[in-house]
Amino acid sequence: MKAIISDIHSNLEALQAVMADIKESNIDEIYCLGDVIGYGPNPRECIDMVMDFKVVLLGNHDQGAMFDPEGFNPSAERAIFWTREQLELPTENRHVKERRWDFLAERPRIVKEDNFMFVHGSARNPLNEYVFPEDIYNQRKMERIFALVDKYCFQGHTHVPGIFTENLQFHSPEEIDYVYRLDSRKTLCNVGSVGQPRDGDWRACYVQLDGDTIRFRRVEYDVETTIQKIYAIPDLENFLGDRLRDGR
Ligand SMILES: [Fe+2]
Repeated sequence: MKAIISDIHSNLEALQAVMADIKESNIDEIYCLGDVIGYGPNPRECIDMVMDFKVVLLGNHDQGAMFDPEGFNPSAERAIFWTREQLELPTENRHVKERRWDFLAERPRIVKEDNFMFVHGSARNPLNEYVFPEDIYNQRKMERIFALVDKYCFQGHTHVPGIFTENLQFHSPEEIDYVYRLDSRKTLCNVGSVGQPRDGDWRACYVQLDGDTIRFRRVEYDVETTIQKIYAIPDLENFLGDRLRDGR
């Protein structure tokens, strides 16, 4: 059984809670769809924790930390520059720092395995394209994206979990009681976000894939600790903490 997680965004408390949930399940492989860092207070710790996952893709915030960030709003960009500073701290061991930068630099943008494809954003633009629930009304966009998917595509980036089917329907996890059985239709699955959910549910989100069954998991974590850490770091705006409490 696989765990597929995404958008950790330097939220160590959320990642630890998800890892504990994964440990209690019969999971042998962990896939991360990118954005390990950005926004949150613990970039180094989160990178160190994902290094032994089977797959870790590159996300747009991970890329932003390595190169000149483009297309980010001011608070996200400020968080990216702060993140870069944390990865360059003079007090840290040089080899440890190099290992983290090398790890980020080697991340793939797309992974394909049999019927399954894994991206951060979309099959069309793996790093940067958002596929939101309301895009089911944008037939042209969805048809083009589905045309690039052989069968099933797992993605993140929007922080809004759910299932998109080829006949342009969207199902939120609650609507399907957190379980979805893949069938013969092409399907996109947004696995939601571990460290900054934006679907109105503050709990960390990820999915378990067991054969053809997808299970959405919601995991409570010590959100107040993360919020207090963000408040204490001037370069991370307070809003980045407040939004965690409401899942927005
Ligand atoms: Fe993200």
